[in-house]
Amino acid sequence: MREKIELLRRQINEHNYRYYVLNDPLIGDYEFDALLRELQELEAAHPEFDDPNSPTRRVGSDSTNEFATVEHRYPMLSLSNTYSLDEIREFDARVRKEVGEAEYVCELKFDGTAISLTYENGRLLRAVTRGDGTRGDDVTANVRTIRSVPLQLRGAGYPAYFEIRGEILMPFRSFERLNREREDIGETPFANPRNAAAGSLKQQSSAETARRELDCTLYSLVGDDLPFGTHYDSLMAAREWGFKISDQIALCRDMNEIDEYIRRWDKARKELPFATDGVVIKVDSFALQHRLGYTAKAPRWAVAYKFKAEQALTRLLSVDFQVGRTGAITPVANLEPVLLAGTVVKRASLHNAEQIALLDIRLGDHVYVEKGGEIIPKITGVDLSSRPMQSEPFRFITHCPCCGTELVKYEGEARHYCPNQSHCPPQIVGRMVHFISRKAMNIDGLGDETVQLLYDAGLISDVADLYRLRREDLVDLPRLGDKSADNILRSIDASRDVPFQRVLFAIGIRFVGETTAKNLALHFRSMDALMNATPEELAAADEVGDKIALSIVDYFRDEANRKIVARLRESGLRFEIGEKQLLSNALDGLKFVISGTFSEHSRDQLKELIESHGGRNQSGVSANTDYLLAGDRIGPAKLNKARKLGVRIIGEEDFVRMLSGDMPDAAVAPGDKENPPGPEPPEESVDKMAASDQNNVKQGTLF
Ligand code: IVH
Repeated sequence: MREKIELLRRQINEHNYRYYVLNDPLIGDYEFDALLRELQELEAAHPEFDDPNSPTRRVGSDSTNEFATVEHRYPMLSLSNTYSLDEIREFDARVRKEVGEAEYVCELKFDGTAISLTYENGRLLRAVTRGDGTRGDDVTANVRTIRSVPLQLRGAGYPAYFEIRGEILMPFRSFERLNREREDIGETPFANPRNAAAGSLKQQSSAETARRELDCTLYSLVGDDLPFGTHYDSLMAAREWGFKISDQIALCRDMNEIDEYIRRWDKARKELPFATDGVVIKVDSFALQHRLGYTAKAPRWAVAYKFKAEQALTRLLSVDFQVGRTGAITPVANLEPVLLAGTVVKRASLHNAEQIALLDIRLGDHVYVEKGGEIIPKITGVDLSSRPMQSEPFRFITHCPCCGTELVKYEGEARHYCPNQSHCPPQIVGRMVHFISRKAMNIDGLGDETVQLLYDAGLISDVADLYRLRREDLVDLPRLGDKSADNILRSIDASRDVPFQRVLFAIGIRFVGETTAKNLALHFRSMDALMNATPEELAAADEVGDKIALSIVDYFRDEANRKIVARLRESGLRFEIGEKQLLSNALDGLKFVISGTFSEHSRDQLKELIESHGGRNQSGVSANTDYLLAGDRIGPAKLNKARKLGVRIIGEEDFVRMLSGDMPDAAVAPGDKENPPGPEPPEESVDKMAASDQNNVKQGTLF
């Protein structure tokens, strides 16, 4: 049994490597999932073969991490930085003067958070943050969840004991998703991917780190007797052992080549999916590195050229204060329009009162605006030399700009809040906009502007009012014709069928995001049970901590909220998990056509399964069908039509597996043996499957 377990672990590690490091997967999601599930089952049955480096541990755990402080065997130094190409030339001249001709390796300077990984006999032993350079935090449990970090090395030839260092990164896409989620539940978004990566690495729960979609690129092998003569060769070998090594590294023979590399990447980096802030130039030969040695802080054989953040100087005209649906106040700068990185910038984020005070930003100042890793430009400094004579320190507002209520600050939060949740107009409208949004009640006939229009017209003053709207209320409104009125009413009506967990997300309890709502719904099964739960009972649900538990209790303690919830109940929204309504959501929104006969289920049973997992049944195959569920004796016409339209064709077994997965996109890999009999699908559908396999399936589905 041990051999079987080890074989599975090796196979899964290899598939992870192919997918996350090489970007070249060999198998589809479902096959991968099946391997993983098999391993999970065997491990559960044989705890004696437990291994913290098993790939099943990548999902992390909810137990609280304590980060022990660990001393670095070799200090984690920094790099000398420069913004000037001349200084890079001086660096090159100094190197050549001291050691003669030298070759260099140019690499990108990744803008994440540094990590040192230690491997013993090919197994990940420890992962430690940079800390103060001498000692850092042991974050092994969290780093194990990062798919591109090998838990067990491949091949042979690696030293029995060595350290490898690199950067933990959060790709822009994951960063944006995380921030959207945080804003959805009233948490302060991260300022940039670097902070998000560092914050995610220090999560108390490794399951949370696992969800953050971090990546890890390695750039330096450290050890006493490395079996290589050059840095470049060591990285190439490390790539073979399973580490993710940047594709952008280059050997450069002289300053001209360095110069060209820098110029090229200063432009091309804007297309990369992660943040970089410069180029690192390293002497390639370890022997020469040794001769050049170190200063107290940095190696003398390497230097970092920092890209200039794209910056512009402009005048701060005024500051607006936006009020979000949670009451959070965001100051936004209005600027004299200025060209920055190809776009005209008129507004910039100021974050919060502390940030404004820290930079001593004043009205009328000339301020520096930058576009860094951030999506929205931000103000990074003030040109004091041009400050107007009579300028005064900026005074942050003390009262809500919309409803006049005195603002409050909560402990541990940098932002100010307007506490008038029930009567502050932008909070009310913001909550309604959230309520109708796609992942909540999905009332797609209504848009944000129409919500504002209905609110301004006095037709709705909370989300429950939506269900009392009548046709005659709507048709007379400006810009709303008969057709859109009908559309709105139809989609409001359809939202009565939205599953309970989405209703729970939609009502907008602070800190209750999509996943938490799903966990709560699964655990409590009805609104009543949830409303009556104590903080301790709430905290017993998956991934619900004290903060969320208290927020839920606060929500239901509020009389106004209770009234709204009661009216929503009267309007017929789903307040419990129905018998049929399972919560996997695995088939959310997917459209199926069932055809043929099946060995395990009747067609009616299959139809029920589809609906109870959030999917929809269709009678005939059309271009918007997602899957044809094909049984024995399926008619050739249906099969052919599906193939022509690129509709994916799956068998009963695949379908059953989809029910337990999260994102069932690429259910059948081309040529999968589970494909129903018949000719190979045509080219374009194969392409479509392969493309979706690479682009979006793996992220959400592996574990
Ligand atoms: S080499 C002895 N290479 O920059 C110096 N560092 O300012 C070893 N960094 O703490 C560092 N990309 O977090 C090196 N390609 C790269 C890098 C890189 C980013 C970071 C690293 C380090 C900091 C130094």
